[in-house]
Amino acid sequence: MPQSLVGRMLDDLDTPALCIDLDRLQSNIQAIAGLCQKNGIAWRPHAKGHKCPAIAHEQLRAGAIGATCAKLGEAEVLAQNGVHDLLVANLVVGERKWERAAALTRWADPIITIDHFVQAEGLSRTCEARGTRIRVVIEVDIGLDRVGVQPGRDTLQLAQAIDKLPGLKLAGVMGYEGHLLKLPDVAEKDRKIREAIATLVSCKDLLTKSGLNCEIVSCGGTGSMFHTVACPGITEIQAGGGIFMDGMYSDKCGVTDLDFAMSVYATVVSRPRKGKAYLDLGRKSISMELGPARILGYPGAEVRAMSAEHCEVLLDEQSENLKIGDRVRVLVGYHDWTVVLHDTFFGLRGDRIETVWPILARGAMQ
Ligand SMILES: Cc1ncc(COP(=O)(O)O)c(C=O)c1O
Repeated sequence: MPQSLVGRMLDDLDTPALCIDLDRLQSNIQAIAGLCQKNGIAWRPHAKGHKCPAIAHEQLRAGAIGATCAKLGEAEVLAQNGVHDLLVANLVVGERKWERAAALTRWADPIITIDHFVQAEGLSRTCEARGTRIRVVIEVDIGLDRVGVQPGRDTLQLAQAIDKLPGLKLAGVMGYEGHLLKLPDVAEKDRKIREAIATLVSCKDLLTKSGLNCEIVSCGGTGSMFHTVACPGITEIQAGGGIFMDGMYSDKCGVTDLDFAMSVYATVVSRPRKGKAYLDLGRKSISMELGPARILGYPGAEVRAMSAEHCEVLLDEQSENLKIGDRVRVLVGYHDWTVVLHDTFFGLRGDRIETVWPILARGAMQ
């Protein structure tokens, strides 16, 4: 049982193991909560990257208003574990899912995302039949070109149609500026994010001028939040993964103000020749698809390639002394696709295992 490792030391862990530096996690949580507070907006952190009720509660204690989820199943797991205000920032389609969404209103206060009348009508029918009412937000395409209704007239028409449906309560709009995270020019990134968010806020203005309720304007991710928080008219941000930090945020999105809190603890299993080592990691235990992985304490070692269970590291002079059996901490390239490979977070205070958190919503993809 992983819980029996509480109180033991890092070296007692077998590898690979997903580790969280609790001091850094808590300082990142405080930093994002403080950023929101300073800008007078709420924080509804995305839980897709941690899938862990214990971490959601750490965020709530720091002032988060609830959580954002990518899937209804994630919301159900968080609700079962006492998180109440849950935005499912994704489209929910089909009778089974509408039944589950309606059922979720009995023990939490979910918000479901809509970008077409078909989803609204189905959800409305089910909620009315079950004698309940559910909050909905309209997802607006603010340039990401993924899902979402077009801003302006299309958004207003959908809102007016939703407003007439029983069983639904129109709560606002959401959009994600995910297409702007990686712009290298900071001034251009700032300008484009402001424009995209202004489009979202213009939808809110349109709705409220037409007498429709729109108390929520939700947007923002870790790769954009330092710009997004200052945009007038938004009410909350969804930034989630910044609590862990990773290679994508640092190297691709230019995020500098957060600390790397997540690593995968690994063992050197082979030194086939000078300048090269293999770790017992691979695509089944860590993701570096969207950003680089790095070895803590060995800045000159390059994590070069991965297959399922092998991680090739090119060594420089300083790391050449790594030998078979040595343990290292590998900072992850992309936290989101790493967490889903594990059952458990090992929370470390220094080198001591202070807590073991099950990743309860792992696999909750329906
Ligand atoms: C709807 C939505 N909101 C916010 C985010 C940002 O999440 P994070 O802050 O974890 O990068 C994403 C990322 O994919 C998203 O899809």
